[in-house]
Amino acid sequence: MTPMPATAAVRVRRAELSDLDDLVALEQSSFATDRLSRAQYRRHLDSETAQVLVASANHRHFLGTAVVFFRKGSGVARLYSLATRAEARGKGVGSALLEAAEQLARRRHCRTLRLEVRTDNEAALRLYERLGYARIGRYARYYGDGADAWRYEKALR
Ligand SMILES: CC(C)(COP(=O)(O)OP(=O)(O)OC[C@H]1O[C@@H](n2cnc3c(N)ncnc32)[C@H](O)[C@@H]1OP(=O)(O)O)[C@@H](O)C(=O)NCCC(=O)NCCS
Repeated sequence: MTPMPATAAVRVRRAELSDLDDLVALEQSSFATDRLSRAQYRRHLDSETAQVLVASANHRHFLGTAVVFFRKGSGVARLYSLATRAEARGKGVGSALLEAAEQLARRRHCRTLRLEVRTDNEAALRLYERLGYARIGRYARYYGDGADAWRYEKALR
């Protein structure tokens, strides 16, 4: 992939079927366990209770994704996944996706966005804390490889 220019405008949109290959490739390169499969992505693309967002630069290059889950009658939305392409990290793409996920949750009348993150995932922890997420719990052996998770949440205004 062409590197993302420093000035590229990051745009976040809803994912489409044509994004499936990029979504699955990014999932495989970003996570060693607890991955979303192609079939799961395909289902989430067409679901009332899930929304898959895609970030791209200058309308073309696929840079990353966020997956948000909603539950009927619940004011709590869940950020199920957040990942950016390795070449595009540290340039604000993760922040743009997270802010778009929050915006989406607000539009769906959610008061809270919640997420789990590996306790050793320093880049992600920094991102969530910088954007105002608060730690609300620790879950032992939450992930498939036995790693612990922190649960974080943010009140959406
Ligand atoms: C976590 C993740 C989504 C962050 O995405 P990103 O596009 O780098 O996000 P941003 O650029 O908006 O900000 C990330 C923060 O981490 C830092 N960071 C990200 N990648 C970095 C790198 N390679 N080297 C140094 N710092 C880095 C950034 O500086 C920034 O912190 P700061 O603004 O306080 O300095 C990305 O690292 C990723 O996809 N990781 C693998 C998947 C993952 O762990 N997802 C989270 C699951 S809960």
